[in-house]
Amino acid sequence: MPDTIATPDEFTERWVAPPNFRISPDFGLFQFELPPALEVLDAIRQDDEVRVTILGDLDPDLRSARTRAFRHAPVEDIAAWPFRLVHFHLARLYDGPLRGFHEQVMIPWRTFLSAHGFTWHRCAPALFISGPGGSSTYHSDQSHGLVWQVEGVKTFHSYLDPDQVLSAEAAIKGETTAEIPPLHDAATVQSVRMEPGDLLWSHILTPHWVTSESALSMSINLSHGGLCHHGHYADREVTVREHWDNNPDQAWLTDVRNTRY
Ligand SMILES: [Fe+2]
Repeated sequence: MPDTIATPDEFTERWVAPPNFRISPDFGLFQFELPPALEVLDAIRQDDEVRVTILGDLDPDLRSARTRAFRHAPVEDIAAWPFRLVHFHLARLYDGPLRGFHEQVMIPWRTFLSAHGFTWHRCAPALFISGPGGSSTYHSDQSHGLVWQVEGVKTFHSYLDPDQVLSAEAAIKGETTAEIPPLHDAATVQSVRMEPGDLLWSHILTPHWVTSESALSMSINLSHGGLCHHGHYADREVTVREHWDNNPDQAWLTDVRNTRY
């Protein structure tokens, strides 16, 4: 069972190195009620910024038929398909299904970070919705993530000691990415069951994968690039910044531009 942090001092102590940790709901970071996942799905599925992957062992014709129908078929039908959807530009929804999100989530969270000595280059929300069996790939992100399970149940798997599994350099090169995780010793894995309202801090450039335990699931990830406390970056962030120094053409190719999720 991962430990849970409940105070700003514990957050300031723990953010800098893996493993991931839960953040207690008593922390009182923000309060916001999203519409039901089905309603959000229906409202955003035609947005140009939505990225959808139809999952399952389907024949190619059915897969492309579902991909075409995703925007127009009855939303209840879509919700029964195995799929995953991500939206990285939530500000487009602030006058729609996410009205109030900026004021009630982003401002309090950024205020919390700032009040406790943090600076950052990027702090942006992403929305994930998945259908039954909508597991994620095995991957790592070039950002710290505050993962907020909004609806449904998922399990977030990562490693207790990521250094033993994948170096930061290998993570930067994308050596993590695969549809499923490699064979591993279960004792090395940290699996966190996420129920609605649960919060998890996911450390930058550490390999992870998410499995779904419910029909429809919705989560939000506040992703952070260049997070820094009193001038100090996390070790894996230092590695990515050194990588950018050596490869300036790749700089700022954040996970927003990559399609891995
Ligand atoms: Fe991720």
